[in-house]
Amino acid sequence: MFAIASDHGGYALKEEIKKYFDEKGIEYKDFGCDSDERTDYPIYGQAAVKAVQNKECDRGILICGTGFGMTMVANKFKGIRCASCWNEEVGKLLKEHNNANVIALPGRFINISQAVVILRAWIGAEFLGGRHTDRLQMIEEIEKENMK
Ligand code: RB5
Repeated sequence: MFAIASDHGGYALKEEIKKYFDEKGIEYKDFGCDSDERTDYPIYGQAAVKAVQNKECDRGILICGTGFGMTMVANKFKGIRCASCWNEEVGKLLKEHNNANVIALPGRFINISQAVVILRAWIGAEFLGGRHTDRLQMIEEIEKENMK
């Protein structure tokens, strides 16, 4: 189950991704927003990320204009690893190297075809472990020291 959320800058792409997921029978829960009226990405980003953090959802997809604001929100939560992703190769690496459980997409810079390619790469990839596990453990140590 995917948690999906956007602000107004990502709303149109969110609706297209939902349509694609419906066609493919992929389950998701939509945490808003509900129109392209101007709003604030932290509201929807944090709702979706909390659902991943508490395991109500397996992974999260966040969409704002650049993907950057949503990424900043997501990475404030312990155990969440998120980055804004612009192409297929980066989508794959985001899973293989970083085991990202949340992906952010730049709604103002990619179209639905590009989003689908990126999501397929991220969803289809496997975490490679090994040295990458060591690095993720280092991130966990940083979290323990710096987050309450
Ligand atoms: C909203 O105008 C825009 O700032 C937002 O969608 C996002 O790109 C922020 O990082």
